[in-house]
Amino acid sequence: MTDLQALVDAIAEEIQTREQRGKVADYIPQLAKVDPHHFGIAITTVDGQEFVAGDADLPFSIQSVSKVFALTLALGMVGDRLWNRVGREPSGSAFNSIVQLEHENGRPRNPFINAGAIVVDDILLGGHKPREAIGEIVQFVRFLANDDSIYIDHAVARSEQETGFRNFALAQFMRSFGVIEHPAEQVLGVYFHQCALAMSCRQLSKAGLFLAASGRNPETGRNVVSRDRARRINALMLTCGHYDGSGEFAYRVGLPGKSGVGGGILAVAPGKASIAVWSPGLNVNGNSLLGSQALEIMAQRTGWSIF
Ligand code: DON
Repeated sequence: MTDLQALVDAIAEEIQTREQRGKVADYIPQLAKVDPHHFGIAITTVDGQEFVAGDADLPFSIQSVSKVFALTLALGMVGDRLWNRVGREPSGSAFNSIVQLEHENGRPRNPFINAGAIVVDDILLGGHKPREAIGEIVQFVRFLANDDSIYIDHAVARSEQETGFRNFALAQFMRSFGVIEHPAEQVLGVYFHQCALAMSCRQLSKAGLFLAASGRNPETGRNVVSRDRARRINALMLTCGHYDGSGEFAYRVGLPGKSGVGGGILAVAPGKASIAVWSPGLNVNGNSLLGSQALEIMAQRTGWSIF
């Protein structure tokens, strides 16, 4: 049995010595201000133990990691009908790519690329005002993490609202195919706020624990999703969670994972634990460079790879 506290301490120490830290996302001005020297890691096991090291209690912008929670919520609302509007295949393109939409009737390849996540938010908007849909997402994440202190960083949301031209293009383009039903400003209002959720590694690993525990939150004893749904969300995280870096992540880490341009990654070791890491510098695919390396060490030393 691995001593998990010794492991996270060793990983934090080892990662801090690395000189190549990647490049902080600067296309969202508010994220460009984040110090690239942060590193945090948190492991929450299915029996409820927490092991943390580094900046594990410092909130950061979870960005695309939020797409896992939005997808879970939307599946709860409309079930498998969601898949009429979004695919389940890796895109092989960048997270914000528009090219594939033109050839495939405006239907995004999967719910984790930006286009797919925008469709998921269009579904979450059904019957709601944007403010209510945002509220639903925040409440859901607080419920998952069993922590009411989780908040939205409005400066980050505003920063993206002012500069998210590519996302506006994606939403308008999909609306022209009828894949998006609400006005782009409304859907993106939800999307930008969801991406601006601020969470620490500790909170994020707790929020993801239901995926490691067959859909049940072991801390609260509440069922979040069915065993089958948890398994399927994990499958999507494995195949699509790191965009066109998903193959490399599966090869090196061997766990379902979802990254965000804030430098966070949520990884799931089914039946064992949920793991969150944070290092703001990104690799060429927009995934945390040192976060991926930390997870690779973690998976090697625990033997938790699913392969
Ligand atoms: O829409 C965007 O570009 C960001 N709010 C989220 C992108 C993201 O996190 C991609 N992840 N690695």
